[in-house]
Amino acid sequence: MSRKTFLQTLSACCLVLPALSFAQQAEKGPIVIQGAMPIEAEHFAQRLDNPKEEQIGGWRFWRGTVDGYPVIVSETLKGMSNSAAATAIAATQFHPVAIINQGTAGGHDPALKVYDIVLGKYSVNLGAFKTPHKLKGEGSDSTQWKPMDLLASKGSAGEDKNPHTIRKFPADSQLLAVAESVKSTYSKGKVVEGVIGSADIWDSELDRISHFHTSYQTSAEEMETASAAQIAATFNIPFVGIRVLSNNITNDGKYDPQTGLACQDYVYQVVKAYIAKMPSR
Ligand code: 5AD
Repeated sequence: MSRKTFLQTLSACCLVLPALSFAQQAEKGPIVIQGAMPIEAEHFAQRLDNPKEEQIGGWRFWRGTVDGYPVIVSETLKGMSNSAAATAIAATQFHPVAIINQGTAGGHDPALKVYDIVLGKYSVNLGAFKTPHKLKGEGSDSTQWKPMDLLASKGSAGEDKNPHTIRKFPADSQLLAVAESVKSTYSKGKVVEGVIGSADIWDSELDRISHFHTSYQTSAEEMETASAAQIAATFNIPFVGIRVLSNNITNDGKYDPQTGLACQDYVYQVVKAYIAKMPSR
């Protein structure tokens, strides 16, 4: 190949590549929708066309389509370990073009009501901290703990050089934009962008919740998003967390499990809009 032909071929490839970058359309991998509990996953699975249930280890997946495009619903089970494992299984078995982690959450922001939806512009791990040194009898105060970056690969986690910043797992900008674009379809509450905090903890201490809200700008807490986001990022898979408030003790918002159904209906609209925006459809 002459130098000129080579350069022409190279520039033609460069022109084509950006068109393929939206959801890596060329691969036609599925969109994976995650929900921790049956009430957070089964409703979406029932909305799939031709769903087929599959069990891998302890995790259930339903493969089907939405508007003719492959979509897989994944029941991650509860908590950080389960959601990390379910995400790794989805990544290696199905090669998804996008992962949406969705479900219920508890409010950290008093301005948010039960049924309001948080689009996670990023998520943070609220279970990775270092405690200060205290002597016997000096007690324990979790609001004094400093974030620990579990992705810092060198040295001991206890020697972290930058102990005041928390690791943020950002949403994919296109997924977030599409999630924003269907806001007007939701009539049960507000839809806002915010920060989702995750840990294997259900916080009911108002001072601790307020500390997280002030220090890390958390809008809501739950037990899966940051973990799934971390693993999706490791596999380079576009990711967004979408959570509905099922409870908010900062403003007496009583727990309502039906909110999980509303969130799945919202995410269904997001998925339809995402598919519609894919090139060559
Ligand atoms: N704190 C922690 N997890 C919550 N969940 C809903 N509300 C909260 C809350 N206030 C979600 C978690 C988990 C299950 C207990 O419900 O993500 O899957």
